[in-house]
Amino acid sequence: MNTEKYVVLNGTDSSLVIELMEAGAPLWRYWGQRLGENFSLGSPLLETRPTPGFSMDETVAFSIFPTFGNGWFAHSALLAHRAGRDFAQDFDSCEWEWIEIGKSVRFLLTDKVAAIKASVMMALDGDTLTISSSLQNIGDDILDVQWLAAAALPLAATSRSVHSFSGKHNSEFQHQSDTLGRAIWRKENRRGLTSHDAFPGAYVQAEAMTYGAQFAWSGNHAQMIEWLDDGRYQWQIGEWLAPGEVRLAPGETFQSPEVLATCSTNGHNGVAKNFHAAIRKRLKWPGDEMKPRPVHLNTWEGYYFDHDQTALIALADAASGVGIERFVMDDGWFNGRDDDSRALGDWWADTGKYPDGLAPLADHVVALDMEFGLWVEPEMVNPDSELFRAHPDWVLQIEGRPLKTARNQLVLDLSRDEVTDYLFESIAKLLGDLPISYLKWDHNRDLSAAGGADGRPSYHKQVEAAYGLFDRFRRAFPEVEIEACAGGGGRIDAGIVQHAHRFWTSDCIDAVSRAQMQPGFLQFMPPEIMGSHIGTSPTHSTGRLQSFDFRAAVALQGHFGVEFDLVKLGEKEKARLAEWIAFYKKSRHLLHDEVSSGKGDDGMIWHAAGNAEEWLLIVYQMTPVTHRHMPSVRLPFLDRERHYNISRIDQEFKPVDRILFDGSWLMEVGMPVPPMMAERATIFHGCRHEL
Ligand code: DGJ
Repeated sequence: MNTEKYVVLNGTDSSLVIELMEAGAPLWRYWGQRLGENFSLGSPLLETRPTPGFSMDETVAFSIFPTFGNGWFAHSALLAHRAGRDFAQDFDSCEWEWIEIGKSVRFLLTDKVAAIKASVMMALDGDTLTISSSLQNIGDDILDVQWLAAAALPLAATSRSVHSFSGKHNSEFQHQSDTLGRAIWRKENRRGLTSHDAFPGAYVQAEAMTYGAQFAWSGNHAQMIEWLDDGRYQWQIGEWLAPGEVRLAPGETFQSPEVLATCSTNGHNGVAKNFHAAIRKRLKWPGDEMKPRPVHLNTWEGYYFDHDQTALIALADAASGVGIERFVMDDGWFNGRDDDSRALGDWWADTGKYPDGLAPLADHVVALDMEFGLWVEPEMVNPDSELFRAHPDWVLQIEGRPLKTARNQLVLDLSRDEVTDYLFESIAKLLGDLPISYLKWDHNRDLSAAGGADGRPSYHKQVEAAYGLFDRFRRAFPEVEIEACAGGGGRIDAGIVQHAHRFWTSDCIDAVSRAQMQPGFLQFMPPEIMGSHIGTSPTHSTGRLQSFDFRAAVALQGHFGVEFDLVKLGEKEKARLAEWIAFYKKSRHLLHDEVSSGKGDDGMIWHAAGNAEEWLLIVYQMTPVTHRHMPSVRLPFLDRERHYNISRIDQEFKPVDRILFDGSWLMEVGMPVPPMMAERATIFHGCRHEL
């Protein structure tokens, strides 16, 4: 194999080929299904490409870091200038080195004229590529950077549609499908945190391949897919930078966040499987190992701000009685926090609600053998708080402009050490004094005019400082797990995954809405970190009524929990809840293994979880059936060469009606499903059978 001209990265089922150039940035030649073991590389791209009419005499092909003003007319990976000069970049040299042979590589590109160095780092693990870039100013003056793509990825010419996820508070992960053509597909987020509106990732459907990418960053971002004049597409993802946000002084470097990218011949579920493996490697569990995900109780929708120590102690008793393992006390516990208009920043217990502090409740919870978790929102402050009255200058602001609140709150400038020291010390005191093993870390507003103390945009700095604060807590309290929440799913991404252990998917716990949102979450993230609770009926966010069993069957897709006032539950319902909890506990090793999902016919959707030997399948009938006969459900996640025994799980959670099936039959013809009314679920248990 000619290894001098090409850099080849081979994954389990995919390969990447990069062609080295004598000078300049290496070219993207291939990203797709794994090439044969001893394949020989074809001829260099430019040797096989005659120059078309009205073209540069030296054509510029798609490189791993395309730049503007050198004959590349598509979007460039960099937009930068030096007071209007050095607006065009062209690399005169490329050095490269293996970090791990065949697995990870670094390219270092130098442009002596524009006085910049760019580096691109790629690592392929399994079939997920982690890619990032950095830019160094080697000139004598400031370099203004407007765009630095973390990745510019090549997509096959057969790419047809892009599937992205948008939404809003209470309605996250809404699937959008757009046809790819010759206009640029572009999606941007300028909300300062990951956002409910624009998940920083997507998947692209090509003829025989599905590509996926997601940005590991909890701030502003932009992604675009552009048709190239050789028929391929480029997919760029990077941080959206505010004007003037990145101005590199001589010698300074700007490092992009990472992009995780993958491709699979097994459709969107194949992409999800690769992402789940990659995200699981990024998670940092206490003790380096995830313990079985404990059943949660969260007080929010049951109690809101209406805290009463005696009532919460009774709630803890009821929770422990049905098998709950973690009791999370949500908003409303701290100094004067009777509604959302005040007290953020004053991180000590409200003496009216908790005359002896939080210890009596926390100790009671722990004595019942449950973990005690506490809600905080460190990055925020209410103007009506002791903290703001003492330090009005601590918030992100622009001199001369009014402070604009959202949910009555302002954002603290985390890039200031005195701010993070205060937050760390006040919350660490609670963690040190009380048996707290879990924090639910909320963030309930977008950043608007995020000016720092120097009057410059502080979006990037804010995200880095937030990560730093998470890590400071993690270092000081390594046993404490953290749930990332931002009004539900406003901060879910592969960046914060390295600092937290669970996401609150959405403030909407309506099971019909959740059954539509959760597959979007699971497209990028594994199920064990997806907070999914049984809520009340009627649902607080939508007013819809749903049966208890349906709500529970939808909550089963993720990290299972309960969010209503258990004390008010009748004995029959309490017993039913205890049965669901027992079933979750028995099944969580499968529920939190490999998952896939799909749509059947006539309003049916399915969710499968488990492994090659044993799995659970949950079939949901979302709308009233219109067919006389229930359609069979095809199960593409199986092995067509194997056989499976499948049983239905009955009302008592016992397997019944076992039938032996052939894998290929289940994949192509499908499994019969019993009649179901709308908003009902049926669970099946499958296991491999050796004939
Ligand atoms: C928004 C979260 O998403 C809710 O679950 C709850 O924690 C509230 N904030 C509390 O203010």
